[in-house]
Amino acid sequence: MTSQAPNSPQGYKTPVGILGVGHFVPEEVVTNQDLTKFVDTTDEWIVGRTGIRARRRARPDQATSDLAVEAARRALQASGTRAEDLDLIIVATMTPDCPMPATASMVQHQLGASKAGGFDLNIACSGFVYALVTGAQFVASGTFQRVLVVGADCMTRLMNWKDRSTCVLFGDGAGAVVLGPVEPGYGIIGVHTGVNGAGGPNLTVKAGGSRLPSWSEGVNPGDYYLQMEGPEVFRFAVSVMGEAAIKALENAGLTSEQVALFIPHQANARIIEASRKRLNLPLERVFSNVEHYGNTSCGSVPIALSEALEQGRIQNGDLVVLVGFGGGLSWASVALRWGGLSNS
Ligand code: UT7
Repeated sequence: MTSQAPNSPQGYKTPVGILGVGHFVPEEVVTNQDLTKFVDTTDEWIVGRTGIRARRRARPDQATSDLAVEAARRALQASGTRAEDLDLIIVATMTPDCPMPATASMVQHQLGASKAGGFDLNIACSGFVYALVTGAQFVASGTFQRVLVVGADCMTRLMNWKDRSTCVLFGDGAGAVVLGPVEPGYGIIGVHTGVNGAGGPNLTVKAGGSRLPSWSEGVNPGDYYLQMEGPEVFRFAVSVMGEAAIKALENAGLTSEQVALFIPHQANARIIEASRKRLNLPLERVFSNVEHYGNTSCGSVPIALSEALEQGRIQNGDLVVLVGFGGGLSWASVALRWGGLSNS
């Protein structure tokens, strides 16, 4: 039998928590009104169906790694960690700078994280929460002391600006956390992950991979863009988000009544509201900033976590639940007890 810290997921030898958080969004704000100038939509429709009022767009010379590096620097500073002390960098993204090398290697270089290993993780918008679960394993096993987990995407690069059913929904941004050991009873106490590949065709970018290489003859311009069966994904999201939160909580022997702050993937205010009702949480225990940024994919959950901290919405000892969902179709959730920072 391996010894296990109290209240930590099966197999964690060392309790793992978030030591610091940071986020970065590009400067340019694209409002709903701006979109009405070139696509057949209205502010009323977008706000009513999604809750989104604005999103950020990266400059042409900015790529995902640029956003990731800024978010990472802020997380390093918040956690009091030097880049050269990082053991591992995981970048969750579905919009890497290029197919190769990995965005994590660019982040490593820009940060000067001289001893860190690194890799990218792609499971669409669920990526950050999956990367959190993955990164935590290295600390929990005692293999590493400091792991940087970044969620970053330039979703506007995948938009067909003539497709009103998708281009109004997404934006660019990045968030990052530094993981390390914490005191027993704190940090990540419950996790859950899932994927249902049968639903995969509902959310796709068809070209640019090995099935339909960018140079192949059969490629249509639309194949490079994100395509989505919105109502199908909506139904999936509503059914999975609350359930995923409950599974992570069950894993920790807890229920939703004990949750101080629920931080869901920021895709649509109606999906967030449906999951709030499923979890039976009052409005003030659910965080949302979808209004300002739209769906930033892998950036969504860590940006929300970072802003929640800035706004004083999380205190030491609070039970916080993070849930991501998206292409795959996929989902992941983490329950964590905030604080418990040790000096190691
Ligand atoms: O992180 C990945 C996750 N993605 C998501 O979570 C997205 C999940 N899906 C959704 O959030 C919603 O399905 C949407 C916001 C994408 C769409 O909302 P909906 O209530 O499911 O609308 P719909 O797709 O059923 O379309 C209703 C109508 C259609 O017109 P008709 O056929 O009824 O005449 C659409 O053509 O709304 C029309 N429509 C628009 N109208 C104005 C679709 N997009 C727009 C638009 N502006 N931007």
